Amino acid sequence: MLKNKKILLGITGSIAAYKIILLVRMLMKENAEIKIIMTPAATQFVSPLVLSTLIQDKVAIDFFSENTWANHVMLGRWADVFIIAPLSVNTLSKMANGQCDNLLLATYLSATCPVLVAPGMDEDMWHHAATRKNIETLKSYGNHILTVQKGFLASGLQGEGRMEEPENILLYLKENFFRGNQLQGKKVLITAGPTYEAIDPVRFIGNHSSGKMGFALADAFYEQGAEVTLVSGPVHLGKSYRGIQLISLHSANEMYNACMDIFEEMDIAVMCAAVADFQPETVSKEKLKKKDQGLELTLIQTQDILKSLGALKKPNQFLVGFALETENENKNALQKLVSKNADMIVLNSLRDKGAGFGTDTNAVTILDKSGNETTLPLETKKEIAQKIIQIIIQKAHA
Ligand code: C5P
Repeated sequence: MLKNKKILLGITGSIAAYKIILLVRMLMKENAEIKIIMTPAATQFVSPLVLSTLIQDKVAIDFFSENTWANHVMLGRWADVFIIAPLSVNTLSKMANGQCDNLLLATYLSATCPVLVAPGMDEDMWHHAATRKNIETLKSYGNHILTVQKGFLASGLQGEGRMEEPENILLYLKENFFRGNQLQGKKVLITAGPTYEAIDPVRFIGNHSSGKMGFALADAFYEQGAEVTLVSGPVHLGKSYRGIQLISLHSANEMYNACMDIFEEMDIAVMCAAVADFQPETVSKEKLKKKDQGLELTLIQTQDILKSLGALKKPNQFLVGFALETENENKNALQKLVSKNADMIVLNSLRDKGAGFGTDTNAVTILDKSGNETTLPLETKKEIAQKIIQIIIQKAHA
């Protein structure tokens, strides 16, 4: 998402500056282009040598170095976004008042890109009336302000004033400046993970689905600007973006109700969950006791969510199912597409090594109503998700 995005990072003199090394690493992993400006005070907290080694470029500190003038106007124009982290109380005050006695401030005043600041200071400074006023002034300039966090402070006190953690700065960047707009305004429902069908208070019937494919789809839809509701069975995953609405539940029945409640308002629905096909007819209130003879359970069919949504589907809604087949794969998947009234089926094959349950990779074949077939060879689930979405966009508009 941040690949080739131009990030200008300004560092000021606050103890949290040491954490910026982590932010730089994270940005580099995302293949962003990074330039760094430091105030002279910041160099007391974090070494310019470490930072310049990481980004393999000079770190700008002074207006003049080696007889050349650092062009603050071009730095500000080069950037897609200017992050000032940590923002010290001193630099905050100067920014609010339009002062310009160092390169970072000159760049701030001439920057035409969005500016994001992550203040970091002691609690009493944070609560001082002057700081409150300066923060409000920065807001009035249209700058984005990250709230400070509560916790251990360098002074030894506990309280408000900690700079937002680097991973959350990265998240804010992605959510607020770099989402695509291919699906802006579109509402998307995704189901993910397994379902657990209770036998008694401690036992259930489940399956090996990890939820990784569904969560990767949720991320990829969100990154393209969609409003995402992710309905998930029990998984060991958290949502990547705050803006994704996650509904966590257990059983096929709960998943059915959650999907039926909201399907009407959806533009796209992708049923990626490995929903149990059967549930025990009755759930024992007490834990079943061990007996000498075996145990017989009567199972009844669960409701087929995909099929139920297919029956309700309006012409402007696009419905996608997943299929996991072990024999006659394409034929069975196509039959599923027709019988469930889906627009597209993503076929997982357990025969492909590295594809299917629990893995980070997948290989799929995509089938549509017209009999078109697209094969996506083994790639990470993230990459597969991005490609599936591009195919959905094409087919939904076709
Ligand atoms: O019929 P089968 O379970 O193979 O179909 C798989 C597709 O149907 C997947 O998209 C899955 O999420 C969906 N499904 C469902 N509700 C069920 C069973 C499957 O939505 N009870």
